[in-house]
Amino acid sequence: MSKKVTLNYEGKEIDLPIITGSENENAIDISKIRSETGLITLDKGYKNTGSTTSKITYLDGEKGILRHRGYSIEELASKSTFTEVSYLLIYGELPNIKQLEDFENRIRVHTLVHEDFKIILEGYPSKAHPMGILSSLITSLTAFYPESLDPSRSKNLVDISIARILGKFPTFAAWSYKKRNGHPIIYPDNKLDYCSNFLRMMFELPSEPFKQNSVITDALNKLLILHADHEQNCSTSTVRIVGSAQSSIYPSISAGINALWGPLHGGANQAVIEMLDRITKDGNNIDKYIKKAKDKNDPFRLMGFGHRVYKNFDPRAKIIKKAADNVLEKLGVNDPVLDLAKKLEKIALEDQYFVDKKLYPNVDFYSGIIYKALGFPPEMFTVMFAFGRLPGWISQWKEMRENKEPLGRPRQIYTGENARKYIDITKR
Ligand code: CMC
Repeated sequence: MSKKVTLNYEGKEIDLPIITGSENENAIDISKIRSETGLITLDKGYKNTGSTTSKITYLDGEKGILRHRGYSIEELASKSTFTEVSYLLIYGELPNIKQLEDFENRIRVHTLVHEDFKIILEGYPSKAHPMGILSSLITSLTAFYPESLDPSRSKNLVDISIARILGKFPTFAAWSYKKRNGHPIIYPDNKLDYCSNFLRMMFELPSEPFKQNSVITDALNKLLILHADHEQNCSTSTVRIVGSAQSSIYPSISAGINALWGPLHGGANQAVIEMLDRITKDGNNIDKYIKKAKDKNDPFRLMGFGHRVYKNFDPRAKIIKKAADNVLEKLGVNDPVLDLAKKLEKIALEDQYFVDKKLYPNVDFYSGIIYKALGFPPEMFTVMFAFGRLPGWISQWKEMRENKEPLGRPRQIYTGENARKYIDITKR
């Protein structure tokens, strides 16, 4: 055993090995701690707990580094496309031209969804949040493709399920938006590339064909890449834990969508725009909201600020801030919300509270502003985050299955009542 820590408990010494990752990150391997000592570890919110080893994404929160399969997020966001990054995450290497074409063609044949999905969609109230619709449509795939439920899935069947979910997700996402607007759904057009096809299904109206615009398609590719994976975050851990019960890919990803929806996670992008609108309506009184965010007795938090892992800056936020300027300028959009966001960021970054707690803008702070400029309404922002995170969830689910990871099942420390006798209802 090379490196180890020694635990001294009730006079007994137990050696715990240190596991070192390929970037020299160290972890204490506690897998034998219970059998040797009877103890478990307690770490609410898993702030110090590694749940797995993974070859997909590396991030260093102190240095602001994010890499997928070894490639930096800066390079991927500026040089790659979303489908190429999806291939990289899922299959481990950048594809050559032929591999990428095959991959895109495999996805393309799955963009159409069964007509019965329209009946499911019709059942929703028109103001249903698209995230709820999306997660249930993804789970519903199991009803249409029951073979996907087989826990002993062949590699071929897994690959088909992956292509199918990548193909149908944009169709479902666009249809959930159409449902909310009460507009007729638009069917996929497989002559178009992945992102252009989605944009058309989102924005085309029978009365008005959608005009493709490379500024919008490029911005969408970039935004999706920036959200594509982020190692063991809340939704990804959810996908892995659901998948560890040998649940199929569709319900596992549907569970991830639900975890992402919360405002502390992917729902923050919608919450940021709502917060900025609230500040605008309140006379742009930034100081008032900074004060509220610092007040322990006020539940208000500065949305789009802070991150569990990044403690200096979020590299995705840097790229998005630049992209927001660029996209708004190219589209000729003059949104005062961007100026407000920049002012708020500047004031917060100079404030001792935010400095001391290492709270910086995260990926969600500026993403909503770009999505708004591209024509997306706030309730679609988190759907767009889910769309981007899809290849990450798929790759993490696949890795977990291929590594035959055990059932995810944490323990607890019980703090409730001790054993007591049942009292008959008439005597209580
Ligand atoms: N505004 C004001 N105070 C904050 C904020 C904020 N946005 N974020 C953290 N704090 C304070 C918090 O009150 C706590 O103070 P204290 O130590 O005095 O109790 C301290 O900073 C540490 O916060 P925490 O909640 O214990 O830290 P965490 O690692 O559990 O939280 C977070 C991470 C993202 C949940 C949190 O920063 C937050 O709520 N941010 C706003 C929501 C948001 O933007 N979420 C999107 C995250 S990025 C997208 C994604 O990957 O999900």
